[in-house]
Amino acid sequence: MAPQTTPETQAGATLSLDGKSLTLPVVRGSEGETAVDVQQLRAKTGMITLDPGFANTGSCRSAITFIDGEKGILRYRGYPIDDLAQHSSFLEVAWLLLHGALPTRAELGTFTHDVTHHTLLHEDFDRFFDAMPKDAHPMPVAAAAVGALATYYQDPETEDNLRDAIVRLIAKMPTIAAYSYKHSIGQPSMYPQNRLDYASNFLRMMFATPCEEYEVDPTLARAIDLLLILHADHEQNCSTSTVRMVGSSRANLFASVSAGISALWGPLHGGANQKVIEMLERIAAEEGSAEVFLNRAKDKNDTTRLMGFGHRVYKSYDPRAAILKKACGEVIGRMKSASRMLDIAMRLEEIALKDDYFVSHKLYPNVDFYSGVIYKAMGIPMNMFTVMFAMGRMPGWIAQWLEMRNDPDTKIARPRQIYTGATQRAYVPMAKRG
Ligand code: ACO
Repeated sequence: MAPQTTPETQAGATLSLDGKSLTLPVVRGSEGETAVDVQQLRAKTGMITLDPGFANTGSCRSAITFIDGEKGILRYRGYPIDDLAQHSSFLEVAWLLLHGALPTRAELGTFTHDVTHHTLLHEDFDRFFDAMPKDAHPMPVAAAAVGALATYYQDPETEDNLRDAIVRLIAKMPTIAAYSYKHSIGQPSMYPQNRLDYASNFLRMMFATPCEEYEVDPTLARAIDLLLILHADHEQNCSTSTVRMVGSSRANLFASVSAGISALWGPLHGGANQKVIEMLERIAAEEGSAEVFLNRAKDKNDTTRLMGFGHRVYKSYDPRAAILKKACGEVIGRMKSASRMLDIAMRLEEIALKDDYFVSHKLYPNVDFYSGVIYKAMGIPMNMFTVMFAMGRMPGWIAQWLEMRNDPDTKIARPRQIYTGATQRAYVPMAKRG
């Protein structure tokens, strides 16, 4: 396991209420982050804390991913994202997230073998895909398919069965993603092939047909692998918190991850990568509209947002966006595809980063700003972008779910509320209501 520092708890913050004072423990993390532990607040004062969107609430202690949003730092299990992006592979990173340490050569070999040999879906799954409308968006199809895996693997949750479930989820996600795409375009699904690596297998299942083989370009496979690494975990974001929340009721891993996929779909979360390209295409269609678009995004009376910009945690450049911007150039060069989308994205970024509104609000490109540009250059259809994100996030969701399950402090997630509705009223019979 990774070196793990138990957060230090010390008596600390004093709260004054109605002339009385209460001292609450202060918890310090291994990177110096501090939190006031309010667990005893209600028992001692009858009060709760109010924090819409949990924007300032630590929901757990976690040793998986560290982000410093002010400095633009992202580390998985202590390893900087740039190093992992440069030297590692997705399955290596998946192992790291799951086990807390980089794998040995033998461990990675066994893990790769296991994942490679669990990619097939049960043949009965064909009927599942057939039951979906032809124009179904692949995200709800993927969420439903992952949830449906729970019906095929219903064994009790022993350590061995859980290990199998983890391998199956990571192994079958590319198959589910590619099958949902093939179904949406009316083509037969392509079986996975064990001779191919994780990313190449996915690309082939997407683009080969029974009539024509698809030769995987190693540059594109490496770009997919990189994208998966960059998406692999991001601490307590909306979808991960959803996975933890669902799992806190002791729902199984498949059900919890399926809920996470649904949470990821929203345009303010993973769905933003599709929205970025829709935005860039609109700007491309209307000459000179980048500035007009930015003005709309700044207008408080307009709901338009600059998609792929801003982040709850990052208040400087998202390090993943920096890596992707560089990778965009390489993929586009390789594909010899028109760089129009990249040009517009870079121009938008340039003017936004000089604009007072974006500077004062600390809004920078996030991971979704450039990921769609790469996917598009590779020929991946727009409605598959968020499914790609889900494929990458899978090991992170699982690692966070495991951490939650193994944490003795885990309780069923059940926030409180401040009720603002009507106070007690007398029921009015229908006859008297008019
Ligand atoms: N364009 C214009 N203004 C923005 C944007 C944006 N993209 N993002 C935030 N703002 C403004 C808000 O209007 C608000 O302004 P105000 O304080 O003057 O009222 C301020 O910045 C803070 O915004 P919030 O929405 O309160 O910030 P929050 O942390 O809740 O939201 C979020 C973060 C959802 C990512 C937001 O920045 C956004 O909607 N971005 C666009 C969608 C997007 O790219 N999402 C992907 C995020 S990364 C991921 O999930 C993988």
